[in-house]
This record gives sequence, structure tokens and C-alpha cells, in this order.
Amino acid sequence: MANPRIAIFPGSFDPPTLGHLDIIHRAASLFDVLIVALLENPSKQPTFTTADRVAMLRKAIGPLDHVRVESFHGLLAEYARTRQASVIVRGVRGGADLEYERQMADTNRHLNSTIDTVFLTPSPAVAHISSTLVRDIASLGGSVHGLVPDAVEAAVAERMLAGRSPRTQQV
Ligand code: PNS
Repeated sequence: MANPRIAIFPGSFDPPTLGHLDIIHRAASLFDVLIVALLENPSKQPTFTTADRVAMLRKAIGPLDHVRVESFHGLLAEYARTRQASVIVRGVRGGADLEYERQMADTNRHLNSTIDTVFLTPSPAVAHISSTLVRDIASLGGSVHGLVPDAVEAAVAERMLAGRSPRTQQV
């Protein structure tokens, strides 16, 4: 395809949620190529390893020819350049997300003037979901069914319960 429109959906995906999957499907219908790009951030200690998060995303997305999952480190604006991407996709759940997202979008355009950020809103049915809340619920032994893709539910529950500290046990 001549000049395919390539978009990047970047994030921490720690873990991927149904909100992320909703945005991935919306973006996949808008662009010729969608790269779901997971940030490897050495200054953050994620709950799930990079390999686990990439595997969870691939399993959740399934076989979609024009969607691929990669990890990246460093500046998103530079990574976008290496992938000839012209668009960054971000999900905006509500007003609380917007100011931070606008600042990031402006900064990325400052760093790479060929990049525009497109904001997509998720379905209201999944707009309340965040990775932070999913980690909280799972670490306290709650069910994350309906919050994360079926393909990653067991992995999330297993990983979080394994990490439960003894001081969370009731006496
Ligand atoms: O899922 P998240 O944690 O909200 O995603 C944040 C992410 C990964 C998109 C953002 O932290 C990022 O792009 N980091 C890469 C470093 C970078 O380019 N920083 C300057 C951009 S403002």
C-alpha cells in the first residue's frame, strides 16, 4: 500500500484492560496500520513484566493483520519517527484525563512536528476502567471479570494473588 496511515497507541498496559481493547478496536478501524506500543520504563517498577504485557496484549487482540504489538523505550516522538507513524492515539475517559493528555500531545508535537495526537473516547460501558483499579481489585482478591479481556483474566488474578502480602490476611 502506498503511504499507509500508521498510528501508534502507546501505554503502560499494566495490565491491559477492556478499556484499552475498546480503543484498540476503534483505532484499528481508522488506520491502515496500528502499532500498540508498550513503554519499557526503567524508572518505573511495573507489576507485570514487559514480556507478560506484550503476550497479554497479543492474546487479547488476536489475529488482526494490520495491528501489531511492540515495546519501546525512550521518547515516544522518536519511536514514532522510526516507525513512520503520523498519529498517536490516546483514549480519553473524561475531563480528568484531558489536561494531562493535551499537555502530552503538545509536547510530542513539539518534539516531532509530523505527529498529531488523536483522542478517542471509549464506550461508556468501559470508561470507568483503569489499570490501577484493576491492580487494586486483583491484589485484594477481587474478581477482575468484566474489567480485563477474558484472555488475560486468569493471568492477572494469578499474578496479583501471588504477590499478596501476608499483612493483607485478616486475623
Ligand atoms: O498508559 P500510560 O502510562 O498513561 O502511558 C503513558 C505513555 C507511555 C504514553 C507516556 O508516558 C510516554 O509516552 N512515555 C514515553 C516517554 C516520552 O516520550 N515522554 C515525553 C512525552 S510527553
